[in-house]
Amino acid sequence: MPKSFIARSAFILCLALIVAAAAFIGMKFFDQSPSNKQARALIGGPFNLVDHTGKDVSEKDFQGKYMLIYFGYTYCPDVCPTSLTLLSEAMDIVEAKDAALAKLITPVFITVDPERDTVSAIKDYVENFYPTMVGLTGTTEQVSAAAKAFRVFYQKAEVEDSNDYLMDHSSITYLIGPDSLYSKHYGHGTGPDEMATSMLEILSQ
Ligand code: NI
Repeated sequence: MPKSFIARSAFILCLALIVAAAAFIGMKFFDQSPSNKQARALIGGPFNLVDHTGKDVSEKDFQGKYMLIYFGYTYCPDVCPTSLTLLSEAMDIVEAKDAALAKLITPVFITVDPERDTVSAIKDYVENFYPTMVGLTGTTEQVSAAAKAFRVFYQKAEVEDSNDYLMDHSSITYLIGPDSLYSKHYGHGTGPDEMATSMLEILSQ
C-alpha cells in the first residue's frame, strides 16, 4: 500500500472521529436544553447569504415556509453527500404522503467553505439532491455569521495542499418554522423515515 494512501486513510479516519465527537457534543448540548422554547431562542436567526442563482437572500425570503437546513461543503467526501441524500429521501417520503405539505418545506444547503463553494459550484451540487433544494454561500463573514447563528461548528482541516483541504464540521439538520424560528433538529444519521414522520407531524399541527 502506498504511504500516501495510508496517510490519507488515517487522516479521513481522524476526521470521521472529529465529526462524530462534534455530533456527540452537539447532541449533549441539545440534551441539556431540551425545552423547545430555549432552543427557539438559541438556534437560528437572521442571515444574509447568496443563493445558487446569485441572488442575495435573507431569512425573510423564506418566511411563511419551513426550511430544512444542512451546513456542509461540496468537496465533502462522505458526510455531506450522505446527509443530503437522507434529507432528500425524507423529502421524497413527505411528498409521496402529502405533496402539498412537501411544497411548504424548502431544503437548504449552506456551505461552510465559501472559498471554493462559489455560486456555480453550489448550483451544480444541489441539483444532484432534490429539485427544490436551495444552495447558499456568501462571503467568509456572511457564512461565519450564519453558522454562528445556528451553532454550527466548522474549521479547515490542516492539509499541506492549499487547494485540496477538508473541512471539519458538525452534521445536524435543522427544521426552521415559517416564523424563521427553530422548530426541530435531526442528529447525524437520522433515517429518512424518522425525519419524514417527524416533519409530517409538525406540519400537520
Ligand atoms: Ni461534510
